[in-house]
Amino acid sequence: VVGRVSDWIQPDSPDPAVRQQSVAALQHQLGWAAHLGLQAVVLPTPHRPAQSPNYAQVLNQALQGLTHMALWLTVPLVLPHEGGEEGEDAKEGTAVDGWEAWHQVRAQCDHNNLLGAALLVGPVLPSAPSLERWRGEPVKAVLLPTSVFTSNKRGYPVLPRPHQDLLAGFFKLGVQVRGGRGEEDGGGGRALGVCQTHNHSRYIYLYGLVLFYLYYKLSSITTSPNCRLHHLPRQDNLESQTYETFEKDVQKYKLYEEAVYKALKDRRHSSSTPATTTTINNNNTRVVLMVVGAGRGPLVRASMRAAARASVRLRVYAVEKNPNAIVHIQQMLRSEGWESDVTIVSADMRHWQAPEPAEILVSELLGSFGDNELSPECLDGAQRFLAPGGISIPQSYTSYIAPATSHKLHHDVKSYKDLEHFETPYVVRLHRHHLLAATQPLFTFSHPNNDTPIDNSRYATVTFVRDPAAGAAVLHGFAGYFECTLYGDVLLSIHPPTHSENMFSWFPIFFPLRETVYVPAGGSVGMQMWRCCAPHKVWYEWSVTAPVAGPIHNVGGRSYWVGL
Ligand SMILES: C[S@@+](CC[C@H](N)C(=O)[O-])C[C@H]1O[C@@H](n2cnc3c(N)ncnc32)[C@H](O)[C@@H]1O
Repeated sequence: VVGRVSDWIQPDSPDPAVRQQSVAALQHQLGWAAHLGLQAVVLPTPHRPAQSPNYAQVLNQALQGLTHMALWLTVPLVLPHEGGEEGEDAKEGTAVDGWEAWHQVRAQCDHNNLLGAALLVGPVLPSAPSLERWRGEPVKAVLLPTSVFTSNKRGYPVLPRPHQDLLAGFFKLGVQVRGGRGEEDGGGGRALGVCQTHNHSRYIYLYGLVLFYLYYKLSSITTSPNCRLHHLPRQDNLESQTYETFEKDVQKYKLYEEAVYKALKDRRHSSSTPATTTTINNNNTRVVLMVVGAGRGPLVRASMRAAARASVRLRVYAVEKNPNAIVHIQQMLRSEGWESDVTIVSADMRHWQAPEPAEILVSELLGSFGDNELSPECLDGAQRFLAPGGISIPQSYTSYIAPATSHKLHHDVKSYKDLEHFETPYVVRLHRHHLLAATQPLFTFSHPNNDTPIDNSRYATVTFVRDPAAGAAVLHGFAGYFECTLYGDVLLSIHPPTHSENMFSWFPIFFPLRETVYVPAGGSVGMQMWRCCAPHKVWYEWSVTAPVAGPIHNVGGRSYWVGL
């Protein structure tokens, strides 16, 4: 059951008597709702949205005493200027951004997770880019007054196309939609069916039917689960279950197969016979291919498939440091009859002495940020197996980053109540989030790496400019992705603009910020990131430089690092 606070309440009224009465009534009604154990209470829009300190103060006080009842503040997407009508102002482009009013109250309430927004949708919608912001905010309900419906030729209510698109987005996020009567536009959307006349009742019923129909039509889009924080793996041997999950990603192995196939083809078409090709007999030669970090063997399998397609015989070395995974490779070789084609090497690739050089070195050591699981360091150690001119698959990878709003993630990190969690990157299925600007490239690594000496530390500074039409937004952290060239034009990517179709092995990475940052419309977000390397560990440090400078996170890897 969702309750509703009286509309007349004005804790910021210029009249001291109204102010006092309002504060008392608000406290009283919230206390009563909490006593009844309601799930949530819908609060009216502040009468003076940009100036509502008393309202925020009462809510903040109430929030301190609440454990499960949520407060949903009614936030019109577009606010009228004092004395103006919502629709008129929006048309003339002079309306106040509802997000600003919301941000002011929630910032004063210290981003409390029990405070959510109930978005009141008017007949005129703000620009599409500005609506995107709400994806990262704690929107709990969308209030749809009957005034936003139009009539079709037969006089039945229909929802305009832009409103349908808006609802589709919210259905996908699992946000509930509540209908309300037209005269309640400013007051918090009373539930459907509460009406006085028989005639009105019939219309409300029809509006309800339209919403049900739209829900079934639009929510067929698959919904994804909420963002959930996952800690990044450190150094332990992976469990069989984890390998099994990797191996379900058929698309990833298809891409590897394609990369090996193209590398083998190119090698065949090149004029000189590489020194590493071993002559088996007069008609039969083998190409030496090493899979480093072979796990339970799926990349061995993909390489063998590629070789069969390219009509090439391989001599494979499967190098793996996890002795438990080796048992599975042994089984695979027996069942496939590949014992004479594949040599199993139970060793750390950085220390193993290979009996012969490889023409192709295949690995999958990538993390959600490309280099964050030490692929560069591992492959630097393994590239000594590679013959001159040999190919590494992957050939290169680049991390990408973008500033992000995600109230949910910010709250989850904050709930640990310590510094360490704010200085730790997380692998996360980003669901309720909004990118404040397009991603930008950060660090690139190429293999084999012929630099002397090899330096895998990196530093980058990037600036993102927020689209003025998208309005202001709040920054909670940075979303990270990677794009990887396996070989030639075979790309493996979780970077949204180039994401490999149907591939699900990696979720994005999220670098949180200790303090939220307000980013004005058209403002810039500056950030710096370092990849730091010490003899026994690698870690990232990051900070915001604009619109305001913030502290450097994870100094010296004090909260998070990956051991070498
Ligand atoms: C992400 S898993 C990929 C496994 C497999 N290629 C797959 O696609 O399922 C990386 C594998 O590399 C292994 N590995 C990591 N560092 C290694 C090292 N230095 N030497 C040998 N194996 C290593 C891990 O044990 C793990 O099995």
